[in-house]
Amino acid sequence: MKTKCVSVLLACAMTLVNAQTNNGETKMDAYISALMGRMTIEEKIGQLNLPGAGDITTGQAKSSDIAEKIKTGQVGGLFNIKGVEKIRDVQSLAVEESRLKIPLLFGMDVIHGYETVFPIPLGLSCSWDMAAIELSARIAAIEASADGISWTFSPMVDISRDPRWGRVSEGNGEDPFLGAEIAKAMVRGYQGTGDKAFSSNSNIMACVKHYALYGAGEAGRDYNTVDMSRQRMFNEYMLPYKAAVEAGVGSVMAAFNEVDGVPATANKWLMTDLLRHQWGFKGFVVTDYTGINEMVDHGIGDLQTVSARALNAGIDMDMVGEGFLSTLKKSLDEGKITQDEINLACRRILEAKYKLGLFSNPYKYCDLDRAKKEIYTPEHRAIARKIASESFVLLKNEGNVLPLQKTGTIAVVGPLANTRSNMPGTWSVAVDLSKPQTLIEGLETIVKNKAKIIYAKGSNLTADAVLEQRATMFDRELGRDNRSDEELIKEALEAAENADIIVAALGESSEFSGESSSRSDISIPDVQQKLLKELLKTGKPVVLVLFTGRPLSISWENENVHAILNVWFGGSEAPAAIGDVLFGDVNPSGKLTTTFPQNVGQIPIFYNHKNTGRPLADGKWFEKFRSNYIDVSNEPLYPFGYGLSYAKFEYSDIKLSANTIDANGELTASVTISNEAGVDGAEVVQLYIRDLVGSVTRPVKELKGFEKIFLKAGESKMVSFKITPEMLKFYNYDLQYVFEPGDFDVFVGGNSRDAKSARFVLK
Ligand code: NOJ
Repeated sequence: MKTKCVSVLLACAMTLVNAQTNNGETKMDAYISALMGRMTIEEKIGQLNLPGAGDITTGQAKSSDIAEKIKTGQVGGLFNIKGVEKIRDVQSLAVEESRLKIPLLFGMDVIHGYETVFPIPLGLSCSWDMAAIELSARIAAIEASADGISWTFSPMVDISRDPRWGRVSEGNGEDPFLGAEIAKAMVRGYQGTGDKAFSSNSNIMACVKHYALYGAGEAGRDYNTVDMSRQRMFNEYMLPYKAAVEAGVGSVMAAFNEVDGVPATANKWLMTDLLRHQWGFKGFVVTDYTGINEMVDHGIGDLQTVSARALNAGIDMDMVGEGFLSTLKKSLDEGKITQDEINLACRRILEAKYKLGLFSNPYKYCDLDRAKKEIYTPEHRAIARKIASESFVLLKNEGNVLPLQKTGTIAVVGPLANTRSNMPGTWSVAVDLSKPQTLIEGLETIVKNKAKIIYAKGSNLTADAVLEQRATMFDRELGRDNRSDEELIKEALEAAENADIIVAALGESSEFSGESSSRSDISIPDVQQKLLKELLKTGKPVVLVLFTGRPLSISWENENVHAILNVWFGGSEAPAAIGDVLFGDVNPSGKLTTTFPQNVGQIPIFYNHKNTGRPLADGKWFEKFRSNYIDVSNEPLYPFGYGLSYAKFEYSDIKLSANTIDANGELTASVTISNEAGVDGAEVVQLYIRDLVGSVTRPVKELKGFEKIFLKAGESKMVSFKITPEMLKFYNYDLQYVFEPGDFDVFVGGNSRDAKSARFVLK
């Protein structure tokens, strides 16, 4: 009987929706107003609740605590449940057994692919290929949506300059301009664009995170305090979040850290004034995992107080902690929050569900046929393999050791050579860990029977078994070998003895970076270094295939190893992609989006720093009473934008179309790039600008444009960048976004250090 009444009410609401509204309300507004008119305050608060999947994933959905909550209208969505049938069952609890039949959102951390996994985001960013990045998000959305997911907690766009922080692996490096371009590409890929956003059942809602400044935690320690000037915030950190909002991202995740002394989750300036009033964000904001409860430890009040503060700040949905569910009603009764605040948050969640089309069809993402046909397909895997090969960065190639010949005997040595589970990388939660090839298998696919591959482990990941355990969690273990370090090395040397060339697969395991994986020592671990030194003593060429989720300090390796190919964690298809590049079927074209330091003491080190009042003179690495170190130069090991190719690119001088522009003008900076080598290759041509004199100090260089070009052997191409006053804008002392007349240096080159320059004046 009750159900019947509700159906009638919903039918009335639908009629309302289909009717023309005459008071300016959109159909969506009218629908939601009608629905909210039927909701109790408890049901509204229920929409703000996002529990983790909990025991509902164990197959006892109908009897679990969460199931009961769903049926009683206390849940707005769930996350990290895998499997379309399971999701369909859980959705049916909401839309068939709850009073108002409001569908649930199903979220997941689909960060760099679903079952077809792309490189970790830091690696993906090194492709500088926006079309490829968008496509990776598109494929992730197709696969996730085919398996029941309607919402992803991606893109993660936190700028970070501290490779001690494990989550640099999840972001796009240190540059705000590039970060903003990537943020837009990812949002487009997940959601679709404009009117077409969410139009098909293969578009899902994106969630830009972690708003804001999560990548700037002190000392690179995860979840740590952040403190920075507003000027730095706006000029150097905010751009990617803002870009995601401008691209129409449906949701935003609050960061764990504080901003200006107030946790982001309770920061009204951040969540309402800036995000909604200044940037015009129209979607909903979700906390990070127990972000509300953690404010008790931040020291700003008990659970009731912090929950009220979060709502008041503009948070709409509470992930996991149930602070909203357990305290908001009490706060309302005590006059600490208002009914309007609850209504607003509830409306925003319902709007998201409406935009996704869940009210028209709660099972929109539960098409069992799609799940069978559209996940981990050969087409998706082929694209992932290609994109992975674009993300690798060739750091050194002395004497053109690379590409390798597909002949002779190759010794593949190291703890990363024979593992499947460590290939996809951190935050690949939906992957089937038994499916990726090992590196050895990947290389064998490429060489077929033309060359012989022999394997020896050579060392464990680290000498310290406890550290190894921490770095190989979530079923990503490496199978610790209990033989002594010496025995392992001896076996590797025997393999090396019989080989023409040595490929050393070393570095980090996949969980050595990622969430809660900060490191104070960012070198290749002890036993692996020992192994590498022994391998080099054989006098045979050694190619270091470097697995890592962060920039490592590898000065010694750079000095001594013949070739270094940084492969990050390349995703489910990484092993074959590594083979493609090692054997020259694909010419490497990745460029670093994060500076590699010479040592950990230089951190934070980044290319777009300020000049200081005591800069070093060009060509010097130490002068007394200048801004430098006594024991290491200021130079990075590898600068931002750096990466080698098997081709050789020469840049002409820059030609400016004019030497001055006015406030309405524009000019072009052109260079001709020629490929002087006998192989085809791709090059990322980078444009940087320096504002020489400002009302506030300005960085020595800022990325303002880039273009990835493909040049056949011997071919030349002209690349032109348009420069407009708009591109010269920055946030001044009063946080106004302005350009200022004066001199500007333009740099164009293949990385942030080695670039040609020219000067123009903005009148
Ligand atoms: C915590 C992480 O900080 C966030 O990035 C992630 O989306 C949530 N957990 C949900 O898994």
